[in-house]
Amino acid sequence: MNDTSLAELLPAARKLEEKIIGLRRRLHQYPELSLEEAETSAVIEALLEPLGLDVRRGVGGYGVIADLQGGKPGPLIALRADMDALPVQEETGLPFASRVPGRMHACGHDAHTAMLYGAAKLLVERRSELAGGVRFIFQAAEEVNEGARAIVEAGGMAGVDEIYGLHNSPTLPVGTVATRVGGMMGSVDRFSATIQGRGGHGAMPEQCVDPVVAASAIVLSLQTAVSRELSPFDPAVVTVGSIHGGNAYNVIPDRVEIEGTVRTFSARVRDQLPVMLGRLVGGVAEAHRCTAEVRYLRMVPALENREDNVCAVNRVTRLLLGENGLTEAAPVLAGEDFSVYLERVPGCFFWLGAGPQANADQAYGLHHPKYTIDEDCLAIGAAVLAAIPLYRGFAG
Ligand code: NI
Repeated sequence: MNDTSLAELLPAARKLEEKIIGLRRRLHQYPELSLEEAETSAVIEALLEPLGLDVRRGVGGYGVIADLQGGKPGPLIALRADMDALPVQEETGLPFASRVPGRMHACGHDAHTAMLYGAAKLLVERRSELAGGVRFIFQAAEEVNEGARAIVEAGGMAGVDEIYGLHNSPTLPVGTVATRVGGMMGSVDRFSATIQGRGGHGAMPEQCVDPVVAASAIVLSLQTAVSRELSPFDPAVVTVGSIHGGNAYNVIPDRVEIEGTVRTFSARVRDQLPVMLGRLVGGVAEAHRCTAEVRYLRMVPALENREDNVCAVNRVTRLLLGENGLTEAAPVLAGEDFSVYLERVPGCFFWLGAGPQANADQAYGLHHPKYTIDEDCLAIGAAVLAAIPLYRGFAG
């Protein structure tokens, strides 16, 4: 597989564009939430079967895995797409908008699935030129950080040498790819705390132990966990996203529940934070005569790209999209459970431009009810995905 034949993948993907867009729109109309992707996985399976792939269904829930064996020996490269939608009411007004109330493909996983299907079509046509094999992983339940782990636990990564995946970015112009070596996305952990006081009359605080005041102090003191206890060179975020307590303006409630998330790039900091949080929440609660029960749930690690694999993505991007098609991604503390695969095998995750050239900064972001993509990115994404295993087999 030489550079010229790799570059031909883009025109070849354009020929499949109608099919890829058709699949994306079909999935877009019938979004399914995490852990409920029964129809979506059935649609994928029905499309993969006729391609002559070795298809496994129900891998770690609704995951679908399909293997393609190339014509020559070489590495087994996994390509992954996610399939789940979000509990969002779509407001795009598009003719193919969601037909399910309160459900929307607001993160573009419909597009990811369609692109991976397109890549499978392209690679099946080039099977004889492929050295090694390709495993197509259609993963469920990304939004709840469970799908990747379920695939791994079901043995879906057995034999895989490298893994690649993408996420669309509506704020990046279509025709571009962005990635980076090392930490690109943050770890995702979740905590909650119950602050227990003693309720009573709002006018007689001396007879009560007020958990609202304690919870307020706790929320503020959590911010100092980051600013005063961690190095400014170790980025971390502690966000309290939910506080619940009380139902009446003149009643001091018995308890307050708070819930939040913790993000960082550093495994060391990630291990430190549960201890810091426990100490701060417990200590501040006690200072206010309350008690606190803290629960901490580790979800997914930070996403770390390996240099060798980033180079492969950069190389095929330059071939397909030219020098201007490649930019370096800025790290973000948003999470992505692709990191669970990267804990086990080397690989690269990248952003695929899906936004309009002119007003990318006005685009509606991921998870917004008006989020849209420029469908021109679909053929591009399929071509880039297909090019990676062809290039890796060739280079290796
Ligand atoms: Ni997403």
